[in-house]
Amino acid sequence: MELDGARVLVAGATGVLGGALTAELAARGARPALAGRDPERLARAARRYPGAPVLLFDAYDPASCARAVAEAAAGLGGLDAVVTAFGAVAFGPAAEAGDEVAEHLMAVNALAPAAFFRAALPLLAPGSVLAALTGVVAQAPQAGMADFSASKAALAAWLGAVRREARTAGVRVLDVRPGHLDTGFADRAVAGTPPPLPAGGDPLRTVAAVAEAMAADAELVRTAPDGAPVVERRAR
Ligand SMILES: NC(=O)c1ccc[n+]([C@@H]2O[C@H](COP(=O)([O-])OP(=O)(O)OC[C@H]3O[C@@H](n4cnc5c(N)ncnc54)[C@H](OP(=O)(O)O)[C@@H]3O)[C@@H](O)[C@H]2O)c1
Repeated sequence: MELDGARVLVAGATGVLGGALTAELAARGARPALAGRDPERLARAARRYPGAPVLLFDAYDPASCARAVAEAAAGLGGLDAVVTAFGAVAFGPAAEAGDEVAEHLMAVNALAPAAFFRAALPLLAPGSVLAALTGVVAQAPQAGMADFSASKAALAAWLGAVRREARTAGVRVLDVRPGHLDTGFADRAVAGTPPPLPAGGDPLRTVAAVAEAMAADAELVRTAPDGAPVVERRAR
């Protein structure tokens, strides 16, 4: 897709990756709409983008996700891309996680992004892009992260099916599956404490790769063993 002038909704624009991606896309000429759950953090994130639509949602409320899409489209005069960059994590043995934590992760990490994309699909013209931050756990589930891994794998599966459905309409679906990045995400877990983790990768390199992937109509961003982001034209 052509990023210059593209109307892009970033859901989770208050996060480290969402904020950096909004800045990267805007630097390439995109017109962002910013969605988040916290009004103050959202207002702070939006200061750099005068006139950009600002939309509140909570991942627990699928109607609020659909509403954010409709309001972003109204505010920007249409949508060319929707990116979900929000998520939640929990740590600990599966037997100790509890149903509420499992439900939380599935709602925030799988059902809410799907709600955004479901609302966006009927609005998108050929050449548009749907992009989601899943993570390496979507393909390589980790001990101590069973429900987190399952929620990200669920979203990746949903994206894989929708990619096939949307291809004939010319809508691209990008799955972003980085390894551990230096954003502090693990320290904001909703339950449990993270295991010792290797040094995280550079979020800005990943965000630049996401923008490249969107511009190239690519389907996958992953992390190479040396930590470098890799853009794959086709997901396998
Ligand atoms: N960092 C990594 O190592 C890494 C690697 C691979 C994939 N990812 C994925 O990248 C995404 C962003 O992570 P990050 O590293 O940028 O962490 P982050 O800075 O903690 O961002 C998390 C974002 O999710 C939002 N959020 C959490 N629960 C929400 C809810 N119920 N409703 C609405 N928004 C909610 C947060 O909003 P508030 O600002 O209101 O808290 C924040 O904007 C996540 O999906 C994560 O799984 C991260």
